[in-house]
Amino acid sequence: MLKLLYDSDRDFRLPFWLRKQGHETCTLKMASLCRISTSRIVAALPRILQLPGTSVRTNTTEAKPEKTKYGPLKDEDRIFTNLYGRHDWGIKGAMGRGDWYKTKEIMDKGHDWILKEITTSGLRGRGGAGFPTGMKWGFMNRPSDGRPKYLVVNADEGEPGTCKDREIMRHDPHKLVEGCLIAGRAMRAQAAYIYIRGEFYNEASNLNVAIKEAYKAGFLGKNACGSGYDFDVFVHRGAGAYICGEETSLIESLEGKAGKPRLKPPFPADVGVFGCPTTVANVETVAVAPVICRRSGDWFASFGRERNRGTKLFNISGHVNNPTTVEEEMSIPLREIIERHAGGVIGGWDNLLAVIPGGSSTPLIPKSVCEDVMMDFDALVQAQTSLGTAAIIVMNKDADVVRCISRLIEFYKHESCGQCTPCREGTGWMMKIMTRFESGNAKPEEIDMLYELSKQIEGHTICALGDGAAWPVQGLIRHFRPELERRMSDFAKKQQAATA
Ligand SMILES: Cc1cc2nc3c(=O)[nH]c(=O)nc-3n(C[C@H](O)[C@H](O)[C@H](O)COP(=O)(O)O)c2cc1C
Ligand code: SF4
Repeated sequence: MLKLLYDSDRDFRLPFWLRKQGHETCTLKMASLCRISTSRIVAALPRILQLPGTSVRTNTTEAKPEKTKYGPLKDEDRIFTNLYGRHDWGIKGAMGRGDWYKTKEIMDKGHDWILKEITTSGLRGRGGAGFPTGMKWGFMNRPSDGRPKYLVVNADEGEPGTCKDREIMRHDPHKLVEGCLIAGRAMRAQAAYIYIRGEFYNEASNLNVAIKEAYKAGFLGKNACGSGYDFDVFVHRGAGAYICGEETSLIESLEGKAGKPRLKPPFPADVGVFGCPTTVANVETVAVAPVICRRSGDWFASFGRERNRGTKLFNISGHVNNPTTVEEEMSIPLREIIERHAGGVIGGWDNLLAVIPGGSSTPLIPKSVCEDVMMDFDALVQAQTSLGTAAIIVMNKDADVVRCISRLIEFYKHESCGQCTPCREGTGWMMKIMTRFESGNAKPEEIDMLYELSKQIEGHTICALGDGAAWPVQGLIRHFRPELERRMSDFAKKQQAATA
């Protein structure tokens, strides 16, 4: 009998062409864990058995030929199998789709094992900043000083254009609830608080039902899943302020105070909610953890480019024929995701003007950049923008791009908490200038003034809301300066004609 990579769970009879080579049976613990089909096990055998001409991935940095094509994602590789709410989102339906399967075994493997799988997966935070999740969760694993530890799930989802977490909570809430238990175990937390934005009434309601079901089934509470580990999950509804999505502001709000960001350090892993070590993690980040543990970190790392691993939920809105939310492979080209899943740009690809690729705070990119840019962290940084929350906002040539950015600045001005002068005053100034830019009622030299103003905000504030307000303006000036100048020139000509 051949011993394989994974320890024994059940014997599996090999196909004849391998038996002819002297192998009789193999044991596939992970395969049975994730209930993959026999045909898929057979297809994977050459790789698993390390037969000549095949290689086995042991970690994300191992040198092996990089893929050159990313996406489309196959159905069997989807994590969110009820994204569109076509099936039962309750515990029965969720268990039928594989949730809560062998959760006890995963828990029994311990926090180091879970952390190792998450690190191997290459998962980066899905809340916007893209910090490596394994490393972040690992910050909680310092020797205990007696204080309890908490996981806080960020379900505030306030970034304009972003609507992925709500789909998880209303259509697949058990993914998140199970994720809380596993992420909590990884960081030795004793409870999770899910902070959900107040407007998400249906989502909070489904989430509460799912949590209740999980308690009833013995998956949460004392001796969760029979693992000997006690773990509670609470839902806290916010009141809809965008700034409460910022992690320290969220913690303040959870403690019953006004949602205003804290100065860091201390970081939440030292002093978080109720003065205890805390990790704040996005809904999607937490919800993918159980599947990563079941199917392995290596499986997740087989998607996307180096440093940009995994599958990801993308929102596509704006001037597309079918706005949608879709799970895709990281690094898929922007053009492909728009054309394959959103029915293309209204009026055709040549009618595209610009795209905001990662939610309202990320700088727009013009059509020329959209042609071949990939949807991942590194490619978008190279294109002087960001993956952010992966909320793609498409603008075709019917859009008034100056008005669009002006409207976003109005949003950031409204949402500023007012603690820092550059943000409080700067967003107001930018808004006033942008309002004049819409009609062209400005002088060309004011374009550089506005750029300089945005640079005085960026990096000079307590939290990243200031940066998020500055970047859209910078993107507009970087790519649409001629359009701004044209408006100013037209306005000046009209003024002259009126006074002649
Ligand atoms: C103004 C502002 C709003 C934010 N809103 C959200 C949000 O709604 N949801 C979210 O997950 N992260 C949001 N973030 C990012 C969080 O501060 C934090 O980085 C994130 O929740 C960490 O989770 P992750 O490691 O899973 O990405 C926001 C950040 C800022 C500065
Ligand atoms: S950057 Fe803006 S929102 Fe953030 S703390 Fe400062 S004033 Fe408040």
